[in-house]
Amino acid sequence: MSLFTKKPMHLLLEEAGDSGKGLKRTLSAGALVALGIGAIIGAGLFVRTAAAAAQNAGPSVTIGFIIAAIGCALAGLCYAELSSSIPISGSAYTYTYATMGELMAWIIGWDLVLEYAVGAATVGIAWSEYLNKLLVEVLHVAPVPYEWCHSPFQTSVDGVSGIMNLPALFIVGLLSLLLIKGTSESAFVNGIIVITKVSIVILIIIFGWGFINEANHHPYIPEATVYKDHAGISHSYGGIMGILGAAGTVFFAFIGFDAVSTAAQETKNPKTAMPIGILGSLAVCTVLYILFAHVLTGIAPIEFFRTKGGEASVVAAISEYMTGYGWLSKLVTVAILAGFSSVILVMLLGQSRVFYSMSRDGLLPKMFSDLHPKFQTPHKANLFILILVGLFAAFVPGDVVGDMTSIGTLFAFMLVCVAVIILRKTNPELPRQFKTPWVPLVPILGVLVCGAMIFGLGWTNWLRLFGWLALGFIIYFGYSVKNSVLRNTGKTVFPQDPPKPEL
Ligand code: ALA
Repeated sequence: MSLFTKKPMHLLLEEAGDSGKGLKRTLSAGALVALGIGAIIGAGLFVRTAAAAAQNAGPSVTIGFIIAAIGCALAGLCYAELSSSIPISGSAYTYTYATMGELMAWIIGWDLVLEYAVGAATVGIAWSEYLNKLLVEVLHVAPVPYEWCHSPFQTSVDGVSGIMNLPALFIVGLLSLLLIKGTSESAFVNGIIVITKVSIVILIIIFGWGFINEANHHPYIPEATVYKDHAGISHSYGGIMGILGAAGTVFFAFIGFDAVSTAAQETKNPKTAMPIGILGSLAVCTVLYILFAHVLTGIAPIEFFRTKGGEASVVAAISEYMTGYGWLSKLVTVAILAGFSSVILVMLLGQSRVFYSMSRDGLLPKMFSDLHPKFQTPHKANLFILILVGLFAAFVPGDVVGDMTSIGTLFAFMLVCVAVIILRKTNPELPRQFKTPWVPLVPILGVLVCGAMIFGLGWTNWLRLFGWLALGFIIYFGYSVKNSVLRNTGKTVFPQDPPKPEL
């Protein structure tokens, strides 16, 4: 069998019958929009926005948000076609296995580790920044000392070196243990978190608007130069490259919206509800994000985000520049900590599902699909993910893991766009509950816009992506090729999903 062995579509569909049948069509377009918003507002907005403004685009980070949203909309429409034509509640990994063969599926699966596991580490590190705000500004106690809440690659302005990020490790560990126990967020808790997150974003926009200092917005698009951060890393700042770099960085803020497209089977009338769900949640978030970024870069000068306001930037800016709004910074701190926890939980869950599927296919060791005898959760996968995510969270700076998450996810999105074009040619007869409009134009544009953001993220991130893929190839050719179930038996193993945790 070749590297491009594909999961035969008829097998996939037959076997999927066992796993996909049980899902009820209960979600309306409105519910999908809420699901999307709940999954996406997090560290991207509350941490990466200020980083993108400081390192790449200044106030024109708002234009970066528009580019990132366009890329997401195009890729999202492709994602929705795949998830509605292959009725397995899986991920881009499963879809690629059917359309582009095992090697590409491996690349995507391996790449999704960047989206989910490294993404969870990024949000964990952001959680750690806001925890210190909670300790100091809300509870009025001492913060975690710098060395114990930063990676060894970070040094404070006063010259203190980080050792490890203990709070980030703590939150990732705690949530992983909850997942092993089978805890999953209830729809009710999710609803409350969505409302809280959206409310604080709106409150910051409304109250912050009056504190915008027009001088901070001039020039809106800074002249193209190179900015060297205090760790000595150079970034393209200003001009079109600055905006593309910012788009790649704040793209993180949209990650998770693909959760909407994977809910195709649970959606009433997916033909109309899916595009409304995907484009609707993206549109709502994009408007909120642009206004938010406009306010944030208007309240404080860019220099503030490069120095004192570089961490927990939103609360730092409110405390420093919005006199009389101490209550708002306290409220935002508490809400952010809860909101980030729910994003981490969703990402850890997503990661364990991808590992579970890859292990069932023999591409990863069997232990990743072993279920706990009592809790019926893939506990060994969860423990391994805890260690992997914990290492990233404890020892790698937030900027690095954030951009790695963006570049990995952008690359996966590009492959999803290509998969739609291929599947239309190879399996034109496949029933598609949702069809991407204007194929191949939309997928091609998706590839171009996501590719432009990858370009904007700069060579250090390209190297990290290459390094990650190279490591993946070593594992694939060293282990997976020999153990692939499809190669060895010609059969696939389904259902792909672990049993859903009890609420
Ligand atoms: N979009 C999610 C966040 O910003 C991953 O935290």
